[in-house]
Amino acid sequence: MGLMNELRAERQPGADAISLGPNEMQTELALGLSEAQAQISPKYFYDPLGSKLFEAICQLDEYYLTRCEAGIFAGNQAEIAEVAGRGVTLIDLGAGNCAKAAKLFRTLRPQQYVPIDISAEFLEAAVDALRAEHPQIPMFPLGMDFSEGLQLPEQVRRERRLFFYPGSSLGNFAPLQALQFLRRIHKASDAQGGLLIGIDLVKDAELLEAAYDDGLGVTAAFNRNVLPHVNSILGSDFNLRDWGHRALFNEKQSRVEMHLQALADVTVRWAGGSRSFAAGETIHTENSYKYTRERFLELLAQAGFGDARCWTDDKKSFLVCYAKTM
Ligand code: TRP
Repeated sequence: MGLMNELRAERQPGADAISLGPNEMQTELALGLSEAQAQISPKYFYDPLGSKLFEAICQLDEYYLTRCEAGIFAGNQAEIAEVAGRGVTLIDLGAGNCAKAAKLFRTLRPQQYVPIDISAEFLEAAVDALRAEHPQIPMFPLGMDFSEGLQLPEQVRRERRLFFYPGSSLGNFAPLQALQFLRRIHKASDAQGGLLIGIDLVKDAELLEAAYDDGLGVTAAFNRNVLPHVNSILGSDFNLRDWGHRALFNEKQSRVEMHLQALADVTVRWAGGSRSFAAGETIHTENSYKYTRERFLELLAQAGFGDARCWTDDKKSFLVCYAKTM
């Protein structure tokens, strides 16, 4: 409960994410660690090992999101292709291993596939494999952080852009940032364009917390893996053994919060700064906002997307929507 109270203060990791140079990343990390509620932006999760650990999360029993979403896509492929249209310019936001989009290739038959991911190295490997399998689809991978800007190079076709944003990634933005991000997608799109998006729905706190704190400890490893990555950028001396993983559902804000919690009193040092943590104190690393169908449709409408069609699973755990650029 002490943790809950500590976490009341409004903050949004990731809201400030832009493509930074090494010095700026150091500044960003040092500033985040120095705040009263220390924070590390979730974009630092995705070093090569982080991307692999995230893939493993998606295979966990407790992590129902990926499974539910895949079931929804598989069960409604034809209808999705019908409303989204065939021969689109498929822009995959946060593509990772590109597996989700690749499953739609057969029915969507994109004219061009543009996977975008912050982890360029990981993306290149995935796209190499995909090109061999689908030689007829031109692919244009982009290693960039799209959360602040969506300026796409001119090689990306303008016609019939279908922005694909699965995995409830929008939930990792605070609601206002989510709206701003959707508006940026809207701007990068035109009257022929649309958005195919997956979002996790509000449910029982126990199920939500289990999804972000699995029995095997993969999510814990994913969260804790940010620390060696931060050490490598900031030159800090985080010791993994001092830090545990915490996930909790903050019902009032409708979000699962992820934290790293100091297991003992510990001081972390880096060139030009330090921060002392009392045992139990946390570093906030991620939020995952959960929506109701109504609130989500309202958000899409506010961003200028309309004529929404939605699909869900029997338990109404997860929602997939296609909406048109209005
Ligand atoms: N957007 C997904 C979610 O919130 C994926 C994700 C981001 C995630 N960060 C995570 C999953 C940390 C597990 C742990 O669920």
